[in-house]
Amino acid sequence: MGDVRCAVVGLGRLGSRHAYNLAKNVKGASLVAVADVLPESAEKTARELGVPEWTTDAEAVIQRADIDAVVIVTSTDMHAPLAKKAAEAGKALFIEKPLSLDMEESRAIVEAVEKAGVYCEVGFMRRFDPAYQEAKRRIAAGDIGRPLYFKAVSRDPQAPPESYIPRSGGIFVDMTIHDYDLARFLMEREVTEVTAMGSIVHSKEMEKYDDVDTAVTYLRFEDGAAGDIESTRNSFYGYDIRTEIIGTEGSLIISGVQRHPRVQVWKPGSGTYEIEPGFLERFEMAYLAEMVSFIERVREGGTPAVSVRDALAAQAIAVAADRSYREKRSVSVEAVSVTA
Ligand SMILES: NC(=O)c1ccc[n+]([C@@H]2O[C@H](COP(=O)([O-])OP(=O)(O)OC[C@H]3O[C@@H](n4cnc5c(N)ncnc54)[C@H](O)[C@@H]3O)[C@@H](O)[C@H]2O)c1
Repeated sequence: MGDVRCAVVGLGRLGSRHAYNLAKNVKGASLVAVADVLPESAEKTARELGVPEWTTDAEAVIQRADIDAVVIVTSTDMHAPLAKKAAEAGKALFIEKPLSLDMEESRAIVEAVEKAGVYCEVGFMRRFDPAYQEAKRRIAAGDIGRPLYFKAVSRDPQAPPESYIPRSGGIFVDMTIHDYDLARFLMEREVTEVTAMGSIVHSKEMEKYDDVDTAVTYLRFEDGAAGDIESTRNSFYGYDIRTEIIGTEGSLIISGVQRHPRVQVWKPGSGTYEIEPGFLERFEMAYLAEMVSFIERVREGGTPAVSVRDALAAQAIAVAADRSYREKRSVSVEAVSVTA
């Protein structure tokens, strides 16, 4: 196959990064069209990246016979209608996480993808980060024995733009879903029950959208293993992502932070400040690696690195956590078959 002719739909914070990588950095990809409902975003991206065509009509792009692959990076509420149309049109698909705002819509995406038999990958980019790849390799090699406990801290430096919040699905579905995916990926087993709590500790505007800016999720896995995840949108000192897997023979820690036997103050300008400002910087290599992998697999007819069913399984955990927080009780996670 020649170059994979791609279109990127949705050119906000992340869509413009995916468009940049496809236009400039990914061998075997050709970015032939970009679309955004905001004409200024579409025109600007096309002009800056030398993309031949831009439009505000995503569906028109999806129907074009000369496009092989559609990368969907719109706000989450638009993923399902666009993904279903793209699958029906026979396009290879890359969809940003989460698949959609609710399980029913996500199941409809899975059904459309499987019915059409098209390639579909979902954007859980942390799996492509070099540190997480190394962690996966070392766990598989038995370096820490049998994994028993999953611990994660995910802190965003500030709440997303207010316009993003009502179309995001809330903290568990939008943000903690990255850690639910990592829990499945690194522990290699399913989460069966969650207990979650949440609060607004800073971003008062969250109240309007029935969302919170801080949460914890306690996880129980199918074989009795456990874990916990802290999610915060208020780490004003930087973007702070850490994961630890405790095994029977050792502990594996993924973090940008060094271990020092003393109290540290992290803030910009202090000597110990080693934290990236945001997700685009921390996961720069991961966003590129996932696009490289996507294009390679589409060209070579491979299977997706992160399938729609993986994404559905992570969403099932997120939905259970959201319900647990609202109903103030532990909630069982809907079982999702990871094979078609
Ligand atoms: N993997 C990650 O680390 C990561 C990080 C950020 C966002 N995301 C996901 O990426 C998606 C986009 O997030 P963002 O932060 O870039 O949001 P954003 O609000 O910055 O951008 C969304 C863009 O989609 C456009 N849009 C909305 N509806 C559209 C439609 N029907 N057709 C064409 N364009 C449309 C908007 O005009 C906007 O430019 C979300 O699903 C989000 O969950 C993933």
